[in-house]
Amino acid sequence: MCGIFGYVTSRDEELGPILIEAAKRLTYRGYDSVGAATISGAKIDLRKDVGKVEEVAAKYNFAEMHGQRGIVQLRWATFGEPSQVNAQPHIDSDGDLVGAHNGNVVNNAELREQFIAEGLTVRSQNDGETCVHAVERYLNRGYEFIDAIRLAYGDLEGDYAFVIGRVNDDKLYAFKKGSGMVVGIGEGFTCVSSDLPSILPLTREVIRPQDGEIVTLWADRVEVRSVKDGKLIDRKPETVTETMDAVQKGGYPHFMLKEIHEQSQAARELLHVLNGNREVETLVEKMKNARNLYFIGCGTSYHAALAGAVYFAGLAGRAVIPILAPQFIAQYAPTVNHDDVGIFVSQSGETKDVLNALEAAEARGMECFGLANVVGSTLTKAASFCLPLCCGYEISVPATKTFTNQVVTFLYLAYKMAGKDVRALDVIPELMDKTLEMVEPQVQAIVEDINQWNDLYCLGYGATYPIALEGALKLKEVTYAHCEGMLSTEFKHGPLSAVSKGFPILFVSDGSATPLIISGINEVKVRGARTIVIAEDDPRLRANADDLIVLPKSDPQIAALLGVLPLQLLSYHMSVLRGYDPDFPRNLSKTLTVD
Ligand code: M6R
Repeated sequence: MCGIFGYVTSRDEELGPILIEAAKRLTYRGYDSVGAATISGAKIDLRKDVGKVEEVAAKYNFAEMHGQRGIVQLRWATFGEPSQVNAQPHIDSDGDLVGAHNGNVVNNAELREQFIAEGLTVRSQNDGETCVHAVERYLNRGYEFIDAIRLAYGDLEGDYAFVIGRVNDDKLYAFKKGSGMVVGIGEGFTCVSSDLPSILPLTREVIRPQDGEIVTLWADRVEVRSVKDGKLIDRKPETVTETMDAVQKGGYPHFMLKEIHEQSQAARELLHVLNGNREVETLVEKMKNARNLYFIGCGTSYHAALAGAVYFAGLAGRAVIPILAPQFIAQYAPTVNHDDVGIFVSQSGETKDVLNALEAAEARGMECFGLANVVGSTLTKAASFCLPLCCGYEISVPATKTFTNQVVTFLYLAYKMAGKDVRALDVIPELMDKTLEMVEPQVQAIVEDINQWNDLYCLGYGATYPIALEGALKLKEVTYAHCEGMLSTEFKHGPLSAVSKGFPILFVSDGSATPLIISGINEVKVRGARTIVIAEDDPRLRANADDLIVLPKSDPQIAALLGVLPLQLLSYHMSVLRGYDPDFPRNLSKTLTVD
């Protein structure tokens, strides 16, 4: 997700300690590289590298850095591997400007080519550098700084926040599109950051700039202007009263709940990045020409792979073999060859089971690609290339936003395989927000009753089968209850015997097989089960189910995806009711690097 922090004071002073402290307070966002720059008169002092804040700061002696303005950045790689050259901040061609961003500039590749053709010195693959050159190109053409920024803003597509300064000046400039950004106003200084935790120890007086606004920071004042016409905007500072812990969790009591609510923004950023990613077309061609196509993962990532297989079959008529990574080794690895393609799915990119499967596949010549959230992870290096999941750091052990972005990626690829217009998927982020708003009270209404049980089932069919598996995994993970996910039609083949009075059975329906879901409901209801259905409003379901958790209207593929949100919320609230910490369930760890 990256984090930026900029600081402006009135005279040359030791900024190193301030920048180190600010960086430490942004580490919760996740990062692989750290960099700091100070500007003193005509000189920019830039120090950066891959590693932890403490390590990089000690190795390059950030503490001694001084100046009148400073920028520090934590990088979470999306464009370009974690490396010193890709670490931020970045300078322009002549070393007069220095800037850093968080977020993703999705037309990065296209802009880099333009800058190279225009004779600018492009040193890295990173889109933060692209932001710097985007301003530089207009300064070179003779524009005033503020106008150069206004024009750069128009060129930079994506979701990001950016801060930039230049030599022989007394200001920093910042602007944002889609991402968060906060400006702090203190005694004798101003600052700007991706998020409040780095600002609060310095000041509680803040301004929250909006998209389409440029902030100019002097030591004693800030000015907000409109990108559109350059006119001044009157924005009064507000006083922040929340505690630091609440601020880090975005005001939510747990990271899991915060991450559940971040899903729409993560999906929005992902869709932007996929639209701008040229590797998508390469991957689609490879998949079209593959003899066999395998989607491989573990846990939640396997459920996303399964959803992907249903989408590929239904939308593009393309058969895919979704398989758990260790089982791939036994069941398919001996049969694969260079005509086959595998997509290895992993949040962490470090799951040993997945890496073992990749090794076995590569040994047989199979083409291996990845979907990973942690760029720079082992998977991203071992695969031919990986599409980034663009979720930023997922702190909570239960995967939430990374699951939905894995599913959105597969849906996007299925659309591409089918030659369908991917713009139809742009409704997803808004529908996710609407779903959370609609289902929260509905989940609250049933959670205390459901929480009485230590055995549950979660059933789905077609595209909601993987969603049922994922919902069951979430419930198990954070409530420690036994919850089984299953194909709804399989229930009569054995588990039906477990049903007793009040036994809760959750169904997820995407509307494509409602009669089948209704017969499943009645099969268990007549035996005393309590049936809770997650679906769009439907009088047939209302008439048959005990409870209907209503999703907003959408098409079946999207409805399946939305169906996981109430299950995440139910898991979260049950966990809290039981007095557990959903962020760190017992016995589990976020990354499983063992066999
Ligand atoms: O990092 P990965 O996606 O490869 O991890 C795979 C599983 O360990 C992971 O999805 C696990 O099931 C989650 N904690 C579930 O929430």
